[in-house]
Amino acid sequence: MAKLEILEIPDPRLRTVAKPVETFDEALSELVENMVETMYDARGIGLAATQVNVHRRLLVLDVSDAQDTPREYVNPRILEAEGTETCEEGCLSVPGIYADVSRAERIRIAACDRHGNAFEEDLDGMHAVCLQHEIDHLDGKLFVDYLSPLKRRIVMKKLEKARKQAEKNAAKARL
Ligand code: NI
Repeated sequence: MAKLEILEIPDPRLRTVAKPVETFDEALSELVENMVETMYDARGIGLAATQVNVHRRLLVLDVSDAQDTPREYVNPRILEAEGTETCEEGCLSVPGIYADVSRAERIRIAACDRHGNAFEEDLDGMHAVCLQHEIDHLDGKLFVDYLSPLKRRIVMKKLEKARKQAEKNAAKARL
């Protein structure tokens, strides 16, 4: 297994719309394993292939308390959605930023596992929120896109400041 690099905002590659997975082979299995390892290492509860610069429709998540139940969704599609729920979200590609986002409360989804076996699931709670957040990544969308222009400006300023600080720290470390 190997840890993968996670793209961060404002990297334009995060805006790529991913293409369906067509080949269910050993390489796909390996990608799933590496994405799960990368997600756990980064202490995330979900990771979309887009975030590791693979532009195929595939995501992994683990919304269990013990973080011991990784799930994979290949070519996920939302079949039905109902209700509205507002949740505070964060994202491994938008480090240090958390904001309220409204999404469907309950969804029915169709997807495949890494071997191409199709399944359907009814989801609610954090599982439903996480799946919608990760499918957005596959469509090139980030949760900060849902914020008001004013809030988004504040977020972008915060990120810019954090990036400058990180650069300064890196420069110091090189001395
Ligand atoms: Ni995310």
